[in-house]
Amino acid sequence: MVKSINHEGLLTEAARFIRDCYGELGFPPEQQEKRIREIEEEIGQSGTYTHTHDELVHGAKMAWRNSNRCIGRLLWETLEVFDERETKTAEEAYDKLARHIRYATNGGNIRSTITVFPPRKNGIDSIRIRNHQLIRYAGYREGESVTGDPASVGFTQACERLGWRGEGTPFDVLPLMIEEYGQEPKLFPIPEELIMEVPIIHPDIPGFAGLGVRWYAVPIISDMRLEIGGIDYPMAPFNGWYMGTEIGARNLADADRYDLLPSVARLMGLDTRSARSLWIDRALVELNVAVLHSYQQAGVTLVDHHTAARQFRAFEKKEQDAGRAVTGNWTWLIPPLSPASTHLFHRPYDNEVLTPNFFYQKD
Ligand code: ARG
Repeated sequence: MVKSINHEGLLTEAARFIRDCYGELGFPPEQQEKRIREIEEEIGQSGTYTHTHDELVHGAKMAWRNSNRCIGRLLWETLEVFDERETKTAEEAYDKLARHIRYATNGGNIRSTITVFPPRKNGIDSIRIRNHQLIRYAGYREGESVTGDPASVGFTQACERLGWRGEGTPFDVLPLMIEEYGQEPKLFPIPEELIMEVPIIHPDIPGFAGLGVRWYAVPIISDMRLEIGGIDYPMAPFNGWYMGTEIGARNLADADRYDLLPSVARLMGLDTRSARSLWIDRALVELNVAVLHSYQQAGVTLVDHHTAARQFRAFEKKEQDAGRAVTGNWTWLIPPLSPASTHLFHRPYDNEVLTPNFFYQKD
């Protein structure tokens, strides 16, 4: 009984997706109805159904378009989709992930990319990746303090339990941790030549380079579940490129991340004793100037928050013209630096969650 209810729920989700997807792709209604009957039959026989290549590609793009927290959605149609649903082993998966990193990085001319691995079948994930992002820095706890990225402390310890040892610098790239169903996770260090990084320098504060700060070129989120038409893809790493503030106003600035504002303020000779000197704000701006300047110098794609906001406004317009409502999460869409200088700050967004989409999931 429960089974048939599940089947019905899946069929409802599938039918909704097929109608949206085929409608957007301009496929005729007969084809939609034929496909839905085919899916009904497949679900009846196997409890699940298999997306066609076109459905997977367009579904992944729709998932990006529906990501309420993302300010970069104007470019949703440009997503490059690698269909790797046939992947069986951790070793094969590693090869596909290495290809993803190489393709997306593209020597600094970053390409928005997703690689889709096998879907969940009857509640079983045949393969999973444990990393939050494919490329991220380790964090080593030493008593009260942390060397590296405090956000990575737990995952770094998990890597160490599996025998990994980092060099102990603040910018050690973590290995990939891939798990086949029912087996111990395996670690795969990422070859250095695949990892593009940017030394953070400042156009007119010479001491800045001396801080020895760097960041990686491509943020590739790898721990979210992609859901399309009721089918779950628990391993589907995806990337766009950075908006400067993600690095300059959060990763390097947050007190519980790299916490660099006091060091930057000291370099600038600011009075850090009084909040009223606005040393925090002044250091924050220069740190963000440094990030924008450094990625530009290094020839790595990155967008500033003012340009990103204008692109998002174009997205809103484009969606309206297409007859679709734009959903969004205001608390995430507004940039952490000068939010009220962008239009986003001054209007509300409906945070309804549409599918296809990306969702958080348990390890
Ligand atoms: N905020 C995350 C980070 O700083 C990355 C999230 C995805 N960002 C993106 N521009 N696609 O690493």
